[in-house]
Amino acid sequence: MLTGGAGYIGSHAAVELLNAGWDVVVVDDYSNSSPVALDRVRELTADAAGAGRLQAHEADINDTATLVTLLGGGVDAVVHFAGVKAVGESVAEPLRYYTTNVAGTASLLRAMDATDVRRLVFSSSCTVYGDPERVPVDETAARRATNPYGRTKLIVEDMLVDLAASDDRWQLLSLRYFNPVGAHASGRIGEDPDGIPNNLMPYIMQVATGRHPYVRVFGDDYPTPDGTGVRDYIHVVDLALGHLAALEALDGTKGFSAVNLGTGTGSSVLEVVAAASRAVGRDVPYQVVDRRPGDVAATWADPALAERVLRWRATRDLDAMAADHWRWQSHNPQGYATAGA
Ligand code: NAD
Ligand code: WQD
Repeated sequence: MLTGGAGYIGSHAAVELLNAGWDVVVVDDYSNSSPVALDRVRELTADAAGAGRLQAHEADINDTATLVTLLGGGVDAVVHFAGVKAVGESVAEPLRYYTTNVAGTASLLRAMDATDVRRLVFSSSCTVYGDPERVPVDETAARRATNPYGRTKLIVEDMLVDLAASDDRWQLLSLRYFNPVGAHASGRIGEDPDGIPNNLMPYIMQVATGRHPYVRVFGDDYPTPDGTGVRDYIHVVDLALGHLAALEALDGTKGFSAVNLGTGTGSSVLEVVAAASRAVGRDVPYQVVDRRPGDVAATWADPALAERVLRWRATRDLDAMAADHWRWQSHNPQGYATAGA
């Protein structure tokens, strides 16, 4: 079962899981996604012939009774992507964040408990490290979220630790994603942000399609090589493959663990703009503006634990991320909004 499986990361994970032979049940309320994404997942996979290996159910993860019914249909494991994820919005609407991310996860875990489905992969975030003391960041680094969104991820991780301690049949893995970007190489599925994107790569791509005049580079006076913020951008297909590896690695384990999913390489804002310009084939204009409040200077992952425990590593570089993101954006300038299947 993929909760939030119609979303950006979930739809890419669905493709990789179906192609690896898993059957997939998506549970999504489509509050930040479109069923068209799932039509395209079918098109991109062995399910194209309508074999029915991808099922989709419109439901809210807070609807525990529906989850019990769906989980009772033979589900082996859950990958829990469903949630809300905008930092700024979480400051303005904290209750929505706690209701969806914390109460929603508790609802899912109650349903899993009732149906004896005890294998879970959870979508956590590098945001749990806040401003790290050292880079690269490994999983032993202090956790200190600085906003309500980040706190919901911390609380869920703590909930998983407590659950694992209460009953050793649980197999729980928290994946701490760094900065997912890019799209499936076909250009058929990708990130479809609502309104003006907060994140760098989708904003750059909207500048390239003419929706905004230039990229605002939030500060060039950070203590980094070119003065702009440094992040660990990871191709969404590499991230999706990390979930496949995680499901396989969970087999036979006990308890809770947390693993970073990143590349181990940091890139600056100007390096991302340059990669996007190469992908688009012309310079994407930018202007340096003030720092964005709350941003950290630099963070990137130590991916060693993922390599050891999951036997997974990211292979796609920043140019591939930009090229694939651009193919999706240029073929679908309005996202899924005006798309047919
Ligand atoms: P997304 O918004 O594209 O996908 C989330 C999906 O969950 C959407 O399809 C949405 O409709 C669904 N959903 C939301 N509330 C729901 C509810 N109450 N019931 C059922 N479905 C619901 O986001 P994404 O980028 O694919 O992120 C997936 C997960 O990964 C989230 O938990 C997010 O916090 C986490 N994450 C994302 C990033 C990132 O930068 N994209 C980084 C780190 C962690
Ligand atoms: C990247 C860099 C900005 C936009 C966010 C969440 C985090 C996680 C990943 C979910 C920074 C700079 C950005 C722009 C810019 N999500 N930037 N101009 O802030 O690292 O992480 O997404 O869990 O929790 O906080 O990602 O893409 O917003 O920013 O200069 O228009 O680009 O300052 O250095 P961030 P981002």
